[in-house]
Amino acid sequence: MEDGATPPQQFLQVSENERFRKLKDAFISKYGMPPAFYARAPGRVNLIGEHIDYSGYAVLPMALEQDILAAVTPTQTSIIQLANTNPVYLDYSVQINKIHIDTTKPLWQYYFLCGFKGIQEHFNSVSSGINCLVDGTIPASSGLSSSSALVCCAGLITVIANGKVLSKIELAEICARCERYIGTEGGGMDQSISFLAEKGMAKLIEFNPLRATNVKVPKGAVFVIANSCKEMNKAATTHFNIRVVECRIAAKVLAKAKGHEWQKSLRLGDLQQGLGVDLETMLSTVEQVLHPEPYSREEVCQCLGISQKELCNILTQNTQDVPSFKLYQRAKHVYSEARRVVEFKRVCDETPANALQLLGDLMNQSHLSCRDMYECSCPELDQLVDVCLQSGAVGSRLTGAGWGGCTVSMVPTNKLDSFLAKVQEIYYKADGQRAAKQTQSLFATQPGGGAAIYREV
Ligand code: GLA
Repeated sequence: MEDGATPPQQFLQVSENERFRKLKDAFISKYGMPPAFYARAPGRVNLIGEHIDYSGYAVLPMALEQDILAAVTPTQTSIIQLANTNPVYLDYSVQINKIHIDTTKPLWQYYFLCGFKGIQEHFNSVSSGINCLVDGTIPASSGLSSSSALVCCAGLITVIANGKVLSKIELAEICARCERYIGTEGGGMDQSISFLAEKGMAKLIEFNPLRATNVKVPKGAVFVIANSCKEMNKAATTHFNIRVVECRIAAKVLAKAKGHEWQKSLRLGDLQQGLGVDLETMLSTVEQVLHPEPYSREEVCQCLGISQKELCNILTQNTQDVPSFKLYQRAKHVYSEARRVVEFKRVCDETPANALQLLGDLMNQSHLSCRDMYECSCPELDQLVDVCLQSGAVGSRLTGAGWGGCTVSMVPTNKLDSFLAKVQEIYYKADGQRAAKQTQSLFATQPGGGAAIYREV
């Protein structure tokens, strides 16, 4: 198990590489002083366990080499000054006690402010201003968690700039909570892996209490990320929060039918724990209790014996007007996906002779469940998954929130070159717009390390 109690506040020596040099030069020309330190937080790819963290279930991601790297100098000004090396993201500044996060427009600076505000509230005394220049290499809106990496980087920067100390676990928990200021009710996967990742290791991330366990993926295969080129920012639509509330309502309806306490806030995972049964039993309970037709608002109110007003209290701000809820499909996905995560970890630990095939099958089942039960795929992702399977992957699935973004495929190492060539040919080169983006769109990846801070000695 990862030693999550260790603070990441041990400065590493800045690498003598071009990225650091360029960032330092740009920082000096922007702020007229050298950076005091640098902070980095990685993006992630989720291998399996999609849309189940916010129901309390374990997920299995690994960190990417792609990250957010920021150069920082604390100041006496009480002002946060933000700039980005990518000119698409405009300069921004705000007084540290006048922070406002607009949930109707997910602009880049708001993710930084989420991280800042989370730490500010945790310590109740954050006074340092910050000059900061951000450089990101995670493609935005692609399901690789560029937004959480920015929140985590900002949280870490705020801790360091104010001379505070927190463990990686505490940072991950605070950053998971404070990212919700943007309006999306995410689970804690992205922030946890960003802080708890270790080079060379995928991680089983479990919640309540948060912990991360190494998972060594069997030799002989690599994970390849492919971008569908359909962008999706989960904070800009209601898809994500609708799924969150459907899971909340499903948990309550199932709980009530089983004579379990349902009034308090309850996740599908809490219900399983409360009933003290296995995932198999939860899947048959879903079959017995829920129907596949969507539940209207009236039916939900009737099932739970609550008023429309009480129903509104269960919903989030941006899902107040949702007319109906697919409870059966969402609960079925969550319990079956939770079981696939357990199975994936078991295959990795036991490495039977057909391990790669078994893992590939689990990834394929996961995609089908995301597509058909959770409805978080899209035609581009489905096509890309098919192309990846045709091109030699043993397993392929959407990764991250979905509705666009990336797929992750498991490819036997000896087929990697022909796989990359075929996917380029069929998915990217055949389409002019995708061809233009193809350089950062298809890449093999190794598990990278977690968030860290650097300075020059
Ligand atoms: C987003 C959220 C995560 C998780 C995934 C889907 O990345 O931030 O918490 O729910 O979607 O698995």
